[in-house]
Amino acid sequence: MKAIHFAIVLLLTSSCNQGHTDVQQQIPARTDRLQQQENKTYKPGLGDFMLAVQMHHAKLWFAGINSNWKLADFELGEIQETFQDVQTYNRDRPEIKTINMINPPLENISKAIKKKNVEDFKSSFSLLTSTCNNCHRINQYEFNVITIPNSPPVNNQNFEVQK
Ligand code: HEC
Repeated sequence: MKAIHFAIVLLLTSSCNQGHTDVQQQIPARTDRLQQQENKTYKPGLGDFMLAVQMHHAKLWFAGINSNWKLADFELGEIQETFQDVQTYNRDRPEIKTINMINPPLENISKAIKKKNVEDFKSSFSLLTSTCNNCHRINQYEFNVITIPNSPPVNNQNFEVQK
């Protein structure tokens, strides 16, 4: 009986020690894994952000020409946010030095939305679109030509004001 007891105690102690060493050995391995996960964290590239800007740019147009000012304001905010994200996540891209040129046209659109003025909206949207292209041109991406859209970018969204 005593011998069995002793054996159990011995077994417990050794398995306990075993566990302790395992944990110690696991710590560096775990840190390595976390590091690897961090390196693998998905960071959208400049082109990914630009695709988002392109979609919001098109939606903004259809919101504005329908005098849907709430939606226009929302889409404008999405464009501004996306350009901010570019500055956060694409710091390694030299092109972002020229990104501020987009702010004055975005501010003009914001004014037109506040005034609820479709004509001002259209002219500031033209200026916005030519500024997109100016930035592409000075950064040797002149082959990405942005235009005022002639059809809605999606067919599952209504751009008119809802009564
Ligand atoms: C910093 C200046 C700059 C501004 C301002 C800018 N772009 Fe870009 N754009 C770029 C660069 C650089 C690329 C190439 C990105 C890459 O390397 O993938 C690009 C690429 C694009 C692309 C191609 C994406 C693709 O994969 O098909 C589209 C579309 C685009 N931009 C839309 C816009 C629109 C719309 C605006 C204005 C609302 C705009 N851009 C404003 C610099 C700019």
